[in-house]
Amino acid sequence: PIAWSVPQLAQARAQGRRLVMLTCYEASFARVLDKAGVDLLLIGDSLGMVVQGHDSTLPVTVDDIAYHTAAVARGARRALKIADMPFGSDATPAQAHAAAMRFIQAGAAMVKLEGAGYKLDIIRFLVEREIPVCAHLGLTPQSVLRMGGFKVQGREQAAAERLRADALAVAEAGAALLVLEGVPATLAETITAASPIPTIGIGAGPGCDGQVLVLHDLLGVDTGHRRPKFVKDFLAEGGSIEGAVRAYVEAVRSGTFPGSEHSYT
Ligand code: KIV
Ligand code: NA
Repeated sequence: PIAWSVPQLAQARAQGRRLVMLTCYEASFARVLDKAGVDLLLIGDSLGMVVQGHDSTLPVTVDDIAYHTAAVARGARRALKIADMPFGSDATPAQAHAAAMRFIQAGAAMVKLEGAGYKLDIIRFLVEREIPVCAHLGLTPQSVLRMGGFKVQGREQAAAERLRADALAVAEAGAALLVLEGVPATLAETITAASPIPTIGIGAGPGCDGQVLVLHDLLGVDTGHRRPKFVKDFLAEGGSIEGAVRAYVEAVRSGTFPGSEHSYT
């Protein structure tokens, strides 16, 4: 099994090997996911919703992500650890660098941040300082106040154009990976074809270079939040937690998940 490093993301894509990502927030699950062959562990700010019980990701702090990143890093040896930049932590280059440094020191190999626009400068600033960055476009949950809810993005022509341009811009700024969330499957496929960096989809159809799910959704845990269309409970077919994770890994690798029933048109 591969011990992941950042350059291997591009190599995997070149070899047509799909990338398997899951969120993870603590050491024991990190061990299980690592052993089951999950490539990338995301210490997502979704922990605000599924661990802390908030209605959005906005209350999550840098301390929270640093704490959970350290726990995941102690449990996982092989998988690449990606830490989410929480809301407001990437408002300025200096702030973003200070937060990202804490996550790297806690064991992350990469940080993820939402959006393009002025965030392009933040991406450039971090990458020039040797901190690998994963971009995140589409339905960016930290935009919930502006969006007025969690809504599929890029359905209108103009929004689709903007998303396509942003995807090229984040790669140009130095991002090594791109998460596409909550966008129509055909748009995600078009963006992936044009993207110089690998794409990871969630609610973005089967046409991306990899997939990510929130761990609780894969296990069918009731988080108290609405279950979006794109989630699948793999515990039912997997029979055990490890079996569920292995079923997910296999389904992503072979391209059987997501299906059209998990995608937006
Ligand atoms: O925080 C998170 O879990 C995420 C993924 C859903 C991409 O950002
Ligand atoms: Na997130």
